[in-house]
Amino acid sequence: NRHLLGIEHLAPDEITTLLDLADDYVRLNRSGQKHGDALAGLTLVNMFFENSTRTQASFEIAGMRLGADVMSMPMQASSIKKGETLIDTALTLNAMHPDLLVVRHPHSGAVALLAQKVNCAVLNAGDGRHEHPTQALLDALTIRRTKGRLHRLSVAICGDIAHSRVARSNILLLNKMESRVRLIGPPTLMPTGIAEFGVEVFDDMREGLKDVDVVMMLRLQKERMDGGFIPSEREFYHRYGLDSDKLSYAKSDAIVMHPGPMNRGVEIDGTIADDINRSVIQEQVEMGVAVRMATMDLLMRARRSQPKVVVA
Ligand code: CP
Repeated sequence: NRHLLGIEHLAPDEITTLLDLADDYVRLNRSGQKHGDALAGLTLVNMFFENSTRTQASFEIAGMRLGADVMSMPMQASSIKKGETLIDTALTLNAMHPDLLVVRHPHSGAVALLAQKVNCAVLNAGDGRHEHPTQALLDALTIRRTKGRLHRLSVAICGDIAHSRVARSNILLLNKMESRVRLIGPPTLMPTGIAEFGVEVFDDMREGLKDVDVVMMLRLQKERMDGGFIPSEREFYHRYGLDSDKLSYAKSDAIVMHPGPMNRGVEIDGTIADDINRSVIQEQVEMGVAVRMATMDLLMRARRSQPKVVVA
């Protein structure tokens, strides 16, 4: 693959290869040494048109750990503010010969469009409600390291599914790896046509969480609700917020995940988020760096073995 635009385009063996390499990078990151040279001499540019803490920081750190020259465009201070389009911005950066562009954009499909216009590898760091592939990969690595496998698990994804690119990428990945996905949330926050995804849908947390291995909580993504119905946070917490009573319906060794950013007291009780016996939220952040190192390393290896593509 020239780019990483979505889990949709990955085969199960590619996911396994990527997670195996990411495991090696976890070991490197935990060692005192921390440096590889897989991206030495290459230029990585981050273009984040939406806010980010985890994804942007981990791509920067991943690039630096592999020896790349890393530049994060301050998009709020860029010429986008003077009316320059996404494509013209991309063409401008493309003329500076970067090797990797990491792009987050509020519109679904914008990253794939941009990828058609540039010569370098493009990584989707989240596009609208569509996909957030490296998030699903880091979630998969966290699950595999904790549960010892990615197949035959029961995974509940809970809350605002309709607006979540994290949910969509995780559903695609878990289906490919032969785990079962349950979606739990209010009908107003379920996407239409969800049955096509081969998932079970619940609107009751206790029913949906029964005997699951993994509980993945999502935030209410108000920035994508486009003036539509926004539930009251108090009511939402009462019915769908993860507390110890609702969690007791999952398996006794079920892990609790959250991609962040997290709203304590809205979708999750702060005590559960901080419970090191159940919550793997900080491990997810750690896996984010390793997965992004592995992804960029493999993309660059693939491109070295392909004929050079020049976009007119
Ligand atoms: N999970 C995630 O994408 O977090 P950020 O928005 O902070 O990057």
